[in-house]
Amino acid sequence: MPSAHYQALAVEPQASDDNDNDEEELVVHWAANLQPSSSSHNHARYHKQLATSSGWEDRLPTPGRGMAPRLSRRRYWMLLVVPLFIVCYFVFSSPLLLGQAGGDGDDDDANNFEPHNGIGKRRHQEQILELREFLQDHSFKSGILYGTTAHALNEPLLICSDSSDDHRLYIQDKPRIAYAQLPIIYFVTPTYPRREQIPELTRLAYTLLHVPRLHWLVANDQEKCDTFLDTLLSGFGIPFTHMASPMPSKFRKSKPAPRGVANRRAALLWLQQHNLTNGVLYFGDDDNTYDLRLFSEIRQTQRVSMFPVGLIADYAVSGPVVRDGKVVAFLDSWVAGRRWPVDMAGFAVNLAYMSQYPNVNMPYKPGYEEDLFLRSIGLRIDQIEPRGNNCTDILVWHTQTKSKKSPVVNVESKYLDGRSNLGPLFRSLKLMGVASASDTAGHAAVISKNGKGRSHSYFLS
Ligand code: UGA
Ligand code: MN
Repeated sequence: MPSAHYQALAVEPQASDDNDNDEEELVVHWAANLQPSSSSHNHARYHKQLATSSGWEDRLPTPGRGMAPRLSRRRYWMLLVVPLFIVCYFVFSSPLLLGQAGGDGDDDDANNFEPHNGIGKRRHQEQILELREFLQDHSFKSGILYGTTAHALNEPLLICSDSSDDHRLYIQDKPRIAYAQLPIIYFVTPTYPRREQIPELTRLAYTLLHVPRLHWLVANDQEKCDTFLDTLLSGFGIPFTHMASPMPSKFRKSKPAPRGVANRRAALLWLQQHNLTNGVLYFGDDDNTYDLRLFSEIRQTQRVSMFPVGLIADYAVSGPVVRDGKVVAFLDSWVAGRRWPVDMAGFAVNLAYMSQYPNVNMPYKPGYEEDLFLRSIGLRIDQIEPRGNNCTDILVWHTQTKSKKSPVVNVESKYLDGRSNLGPLFRSLKLMGVASASDTAGHAAVISKNGKGRSHSYFLS
């Protein structure tokens, strides 16, 4: 495929990260098979650092100065071997190369990872190779990552309904007007049709009803607009946009599939199209549990804020490690070479900051959505704002609802008329994707009174 068809996943140069990031940069650049131009740029930077810190500048020809005096043989070897040793140490001890999740490197624990993102329990090494392949499939050109899975945010965007009106008179204990000066939180919720969709969205809506200055972007993973959703969402009175954003069919069958990615990409596109450079973006899945304090914590995000998410994978938690008020590392049981091993619900982004990265992207790369998204907005570890009492509080939980297939219930259609509530009830359950009635198939509907089931005609004819 011609690469011009695809657009960029911006990966900003990580100029002044801490040592850990530099170390990772080295490996990532190696893995990504850098273009000669950028590699020579990096080489120049590295060369310069080496020269300044070790006295090598004395050996470099300087205009108008000629060659400096020769160093003694012993010093020469020291200067050559010590930096080489340091570079080798960092490169070979990197988890990216060794495939270690950290800790004792025991294959049975840390190197296997927990399938919290649906990837399944696989060896860490395999994941590293996958990430390397991904990075190899892409090429860096002036800080931008081009490649086959990093499509431009150019999927068709189907807006089903939207409203910027806030119909709530009071929020928490104050009139809505009292919050007028607050930055808006754009709360992006990917969702998809299944039996649990309406209950999940209902529960979430009743949380969001307590949050002032919030625009709810609900992106549904299906081709067509769902009119039931239109009605449901507009009934809450929260400003919202409902869009249809189906996963491209080629990904639908892949295991694992990139869940919620088309939806979030659609929301990113919507934000770009509306030129929104004020406010805060948060990706909030439909099945998580949100503490109301989360919203006050993320609202003042200057660039990117981060905080722990409860109930993630093997440790039942994932989030930043904070020392002296600064994020210094991450705790997550699935590292897999990710620079930003965080959950989608574990960070928020300021829109003014994000708008500086027009190539913002979230590639269809299961398990790496957060990492690659955060790479595309040029995040540096020293820029991260730890929230939730320096990442000691859990303000969001990765709860998961038990999923079941929608059942077919066997009720004769002649009884689903206006004589009882059952007609409208089953029509509504059908619209919500919860259950459907059938004349011929499914679980026989037992209708009972006083502990005794009787024929349908007994009650309904
Ligand atoms: C975890 C993370 O919490 C998600 O943010 C991340 O997208 C996901 O892993 C992943 O990387 O696959 P998890 O609970 O495992 O989430 O996944 P789901 O809750 O099933 O899906 C994430 C979001 O995508 C949900 O809001 C869900 O409604 C939506 N989704 C899921 C779709 O839009 N389409 C689907 O086919 C499946
Ligand atoms: Mn989930």
